[in-house]
Amino acid sequence: MHRMLLCPPEFYEVRYEINAWMSLADAPDHELAVKQWEGLRECLLGIGCAVDCLPPQSGWPDMVFTANAGVVRGTSVLLSNFRHEERAGESPWNALWFQQHGYEVARIPAHLAFEGEGDALQCGKVWVCGYGFRTDEKAHRWVEDWAREPVVSVHLVDPHFYHLDTCFCPLREDFALLHPEAFDSIGQNAIRTLIPELIEVTGEEARRFACNAIVSGSHILLPEGCEQTEHRLQDHGYQTHALAMSEFIKAGGACKCLALVLE
Ligand code: ARG
Repeated sequence: MHRMLLCPPEFYEVRYEINAWMSLADAPDHELAVKQWEGLRECLLGIGCAVDCLPPQSGWPDMVFTANAGVVRGTSVLLSNFRHEERAGESPWNALWFQQHGYEVARIPAHLAFEGEGDALQCGKVWVCGYGFRTDEKAHRWVEDWAREPVVSVHLVDPHFYHLDTCFCPLREDFALLHPEAFDSIGQNAIRTLIPELIEVTGEEARRFACNAIVSGSHILLPEGCEQTEHRLQDHGYQTHALAMSEFIKAGGACKCLALVLE
């Protein structure tokens, strides 16, 4: 069973443009966003996950994307340092929640950007960490020191896949979803060397955020419209849950971005 941290979309909106998906001309429908977020929460509860809620704060519309709050192991959190000022004000609220819930809060030097699980995903005993858009490559060394496990650094090269969790999703230590074109050739090779079995996600489904999936046991939550990926996952014995995520994709996020794994 997993415990996940979610943040209700009370103050969610697109009010700035900090990635290739966000457009001030394409505002999310608030009511529909709330419905989609509730759908995600209910699905997580339905598969037996526990859900904790981070209190949303007005003025921080991207706080719903809790995956960017940091990375958690046991009772320690490595807090993120947001690349953009537009999100920097989320950090004190994140730190406060973790402190109040008994976590030891570890930090990376302020001049290094690091966006939590958005760019750092555990795959067995190794961490795969992305850089190029949001997280500084130098921050990866801090992840390594904090986790006391090796980090494989991969370079993200396509602005539509600006966080690692938009183009890569570890399912097991030896199995993952990957949209290869989001990485340079060295990064692709590094992942292929590390993970023997990969489901390669097409550009079309990757742009529907197929890789932005939440895995819990044999269950996988992913955005709707990614049938090819779903079928391939089902062939491997996974039970897929396709969720409506349109209003969050307008801000450049979907299922995985909306949840931080606590345990
Ligand atoms: N609008 C948010 C941003 O640009 C989306 C974050 C998506 N989060 C993620 N883990 N990929 O920062």
